[in-house]
Amino acid sequence: MTAPDIDLAAAKLRRQLADRLTAAGWLRSPQWRAAVEDIPRHEFVPRFYAETDRPGLTTWTPVTKALAGVDEWLRLIYADETLITQFDGQELDWSSPQPISNAHPTSSSTLPALVVRMLEDLDVNDNTTVLEIGTGTGYSTALLCHRVGAIRVTSVETDPDVAARARGALAHCGYRPRLLTRDGLAGAPEGAPYDRTIATMGVRSIPPAWVKQTRPGGLILSTLRGWMRSLGLVRLTVGDDNHARGRFLSGDPSFMIARQQDAPESLGMIPGPDEGNTRTTPHGPALLNMPDSGFVAQLAMPNARYFAMPADNSTMNTYVLDATNDAFAVLSPSDNDGWVVRQGGPTRLWDDVEKALALWHAADSPGPTEFGVTVTPGSQHVWLGSPDGPSWRLPTDL
Ligand SMILES: C[S@@+](CC[C@H](N)C(=O)[O-])C[C@H]1O[C@@H](n2cnc3c(N)ncnc32)[C@H](O)[C@@H]1O
Repeated sequence: MTAPDIDLAAAKLRRQLADRLTAAGWLRSPQWRAAVEDIPRHEFVPRFYAETDRPGLTTWTPVTKALAGVDEWLRLIYADETLITQFDGQELDWSSPQPISNAHPTSSSTLPALVVRMLEDLDVNDNTTVLEIGTGTGYSTALLCHRVGAIRVTSVETDPDVAARARGALAHCGYRPRLLTRDGLAGAPEGAPYDRTIATMGVRSIPPAWVKQTRPGGLILSTLRGWMRSLGLVRLTVGDDNHARGRFLSGDPSFMIARQQDAPESLGMIPGPDEGNTRTTPHGPALLNMPDSGFVAQLAMPNARYFAMPADNSTMNTYVLDATNDAFAVLSPSDNDGWVVRQGGPTRLWDDVEKALALWHAADSPGPTEFGVTVTPGSQHVWLGSPDGPSWRLPTDL
């Protein structure tokens, strides 16, 4: 296929992608539809890794024009899929690419449905100034440039190699927004105040710089996440005096966490068999994996992680560990179909989970959209129902 043929085929696939995103309800406005139809994603993600569906281990397969053939290469790029472009913060060796497993994606072009849904939720007009955190491939930056003009877009990427590629692709498409290579948790004071701040990575709490650099009345759109799971997408309206408040728009989207906020490598101290106090509990570890109760558990234990390991008597124990203070809860099945929890350390992790679950059940166990976030200069809370309702602190001493 010649270059003009590729452009024609890609344009057709973009129209089809736009049709699918419109039918699914993610793409709602003609302006964002025009951006999706015009921006060539293949210029931003010419080679990438695609997730291979296989039971068990997640495996990613390299995709380039040469490896896949032009038709398949374009089909994959304009499918509604996340395309991984970096693992473990290391540049990929494209001289002889191999399938990858047991690795941690650190940069990607996000699922188009999620990108456009967030852009629609950003509620921009032709004159809106936008700060984007997490440039990645530059694809979402290009959509923003198309919509509001590159002069109104500032985008920050922490990884110099990733940032350099995005800069090249954006320039190739004729866009020269303000691109900065640094830790975006500090925002970008040079373009402040912004009307909108959007993050395409997850954060454990809203960085104060984003609140400070977004004008009062402006919006911050970001996913919040913990070390166990994502809490979901939150949209905050900035008020006066560095305050912000808003609700979760949904609980499902999950972004890779800001690199500077990744969990410590060590899971924490595994408690000895005689440590801690034991009691029965009706709540087993399955709740940690379920969407809504998992959300509540993440709020109740912001620094915890968990894993299962067989005990000597071949029952499966679940260890919930807080690496920041060595608190632990070990869950084991009991003889009468319930659970036993053994807890120790400076806080009682499972007590905290049960208290949070009781408050949540008392409110009829709502989904994430019934929760909201209040940010003040000194603290951040997720609340249930209303700002005066039950609340949980987000970690801000990061
Ligand atoms: C999911 S990707 C971004 C997707 C991107 N918007 C796109 O359309 O291609 C997340 C990006 O955030 C970057 N990132 C992680 N921590 C960051 C930080 N503290 N500041 C700025 N960028 C960060 C990662 O290097 C990665 O490139």
